[in-house]
Amino acid sequence: MKILVTAGPTREFLDPVRFLSNRSTGKMGYAVAERAIARGFETTLVSGPVALAPPAGAKLVSVVSALEMLEAVREALPGHDALVMAAAVADWRPVKRSVGKLKKREMSTCLELEQNPDILTTLQPMKGRGIWVGFAAETSRLLDEAKSKLLRKSLDMIVANDVSQTDAGFEVDTNRVVLLSRNEKTRFLPLMQKIEVADCILDWIEDQKNMA
Ligand code: CTP
Repeated sequence: MKILVTAGPTREFLDPVRFLSNRSTGKMGYAVAERAIARGFETTLVSGPVALAPPAGAKLVSVVSALEMLEAVREALPGHDALVMAAAVADWRPVKRSVGKLKKREMSTCLELEQNPDILTTLQPMKGRGIWVGFAAETSRLLDEAKSKLLRKSLDMIVANDVSQTDAGFEVDTNRVVLLSRNEKTRFLPLMQKIEVADCILDWIEDQKNMA
């Protein structure tokens, strides 16, 4: 099995010292990569800027912005059986990146944003028989939002988590997630280590591959 995992946030720079980003440590994606390697999968990890050591054995591709992540995934994807898109991609980027540091009086007039492409949607024509898993971090209407992303982004499974919980999700080693797929019953997993959540995701991917 060959698996591509994305992890961490992206950064969208306004000037040399400021950026827009998402709240993400990369722990969930790194856990998926670590467990995939432990199963003997050939693992490519496309990572935004994080403070984690890459798991030994992964082919690491480091990126900064959403556009860089899109191109890195596009280039690496052929030949992979599965894609796990755990990255917290920034949806917006500044229209212009200033070469010099912006002065604070300039900030309100130059903060013009444009939307980043959706990586999963853009690369959908490359999916073929690949097994694609996405994530949905929500603060309300968890199941509805996740279900609509599952369908909209042509995913096989989506891992939904309610990020308003304090014991799960952001910055901690635990997560409480719901797995939604197209044809199976929704699975509500209990509070688990992210490593254990990673194993549940990988078990599901292996089952899909064996059934194909
Ligand atoms: N994603 C992506 N490209 C983006 C943004 C998100 O591929 N530009 C992926 C994420 O990695 C994740 C899934 O899409 O697997 C859902 O991400 P999320 O940010 O929840 O979805 P959005 O489409 O950005 O929706 P929202 O309006 O809730 O921000």
